[in-house]
Amino acid sequence: MSLFNVYPLFPIEIVKGEGSYVFDNKGNKYLDLYGGHAVISIGHSHPHYVKRITDQVQKLGFYSNSIQNPLQEQLAEKVGELSGRPDWNLFLCNSGAEANENALKLASFHTGKKKIISFTKGFHGRTSLAVAVTDNKNIVAPVNETENSLILPFNDLGALENAFAENEIAAVIIEGIQGIGGINIPDQEFIAKIRTFCDQHGAVYIADAIQCGYGRSGQFFSHDYYNIEADLYTMAKGMGNGFPIGGVLISPKFEAKFGLLGTTFGGNHLASSAALAVAEVIQNENLMHNSMVVGDYLIDELRSMESVQEVRGRGMMIGIDMPYEVAELRKRLLFDHQIFTGSASSKNTIRLLPALNLSKSQADHFLEEFAKAIK
Ligand SMILES: Cc1ncc(COP(=O)(O)O)c(C=O)c1O
Repeated sequence: MSLFNVYPLFPIEIVKGEGSYVFDNKGNKYLDLYGGHAVISIGHSHPHYVKRITDQVQKLGFYSNSIQNPLQEQLAEKVGELSGRPDWNLFLCNSGAEANENALKLASFHTGKKKIISFTKGFHGRTSLAVAVTDNKNIVAPVNETENSLILPFNDLGALENAFAENEIAAVIIEGIQGIGGINIPDQEFIAKIRTFCDQHGAVYIADAIQCGYGRSGQFFSHDYYNIEADLYTMAKGMGNGFPIGGVLISPKFEAKFGLLGTTFGGNHLASSAALAVAEVIQNENLMHNSMVVGDYLIDELRSMESVQEVRGRGMMIGIDMPYEVAELRKRLLFDHQIFTGSASSKNTIRLLPALNLSKSQADHFLEEFAKAIK
């Protein structure tokens, strides 16, 4: 049997990871500024993470959501602390798309309405409704097409106002910083208007924090930069540092009811242990602060480079626009300079999504190599 061939692959086999470095089967060492699509938050193979998962799997890997699981409660408490929302509730699942599906479902249950607003260049996942609200026709199958999805121009106040005037809106979903769309940051006024319209029309504000959340931007949620509260925050990626886990942070105004949401694997013992280890490391090692300091340093230094066209981002979520397509540059960075970077839907943009504990000297190493690579 062969693998279903859906991924274009680099000819590299990574066999080991340590902090912000990964190693291939030939012994080459790479600086990882991509973290496998923003997944690595506390670095590869962090000893506390390895120990927590190892200890747990020796006791119990999985049992279902029909019994008490104090690890889930500990995780909810920790996420409440880290996010500054101790009185909110947490629903655990397994991935980003699943977190968004559950958030959209919850919004529709709560409001009794069907229409969802999302935005151009937004990405929310590949499952049914998550892909229907994603702005990429190539990944929307005919069965996913629905008139309930309204994809509006990003940062366009007029379009937002008209959509609310003409439709019964259940929810607005927006990334605090667009990821695959090219690291695009919504305007303050736009975010404020989404909040106002949701309040006026009884719609639910969903902050997709799957890529930009969990401390990556320097705040727990990148939405926190706006001083505006969403109703639901969806999380995944950095939450488990590679162990599949996702979650929806739910405002206290939503009422839970048995059977409303559910999952077989979500929040299982091993996944909750992994996520607890991540949250503990973020807290104990002050990683949100590091993300802000080292990330903002990288942004400033990149902005001072002459041949760089534009740099956008916050903390460890950075988009670098070059005046040309970057595919070859990314290959050079990888094969000649041993640095992993990410792409974006815009062909001229490089995405940097390093672990939150990237050091200043690792950032400097990247800046030196990047300057050589763009010469
Ligand atoms: C903003 C955003 N939302 C949702 C998703 C979907 O997450 P997953 O791939 O875990 O389903 C992603 C994944 O890239 C994402 O970046």
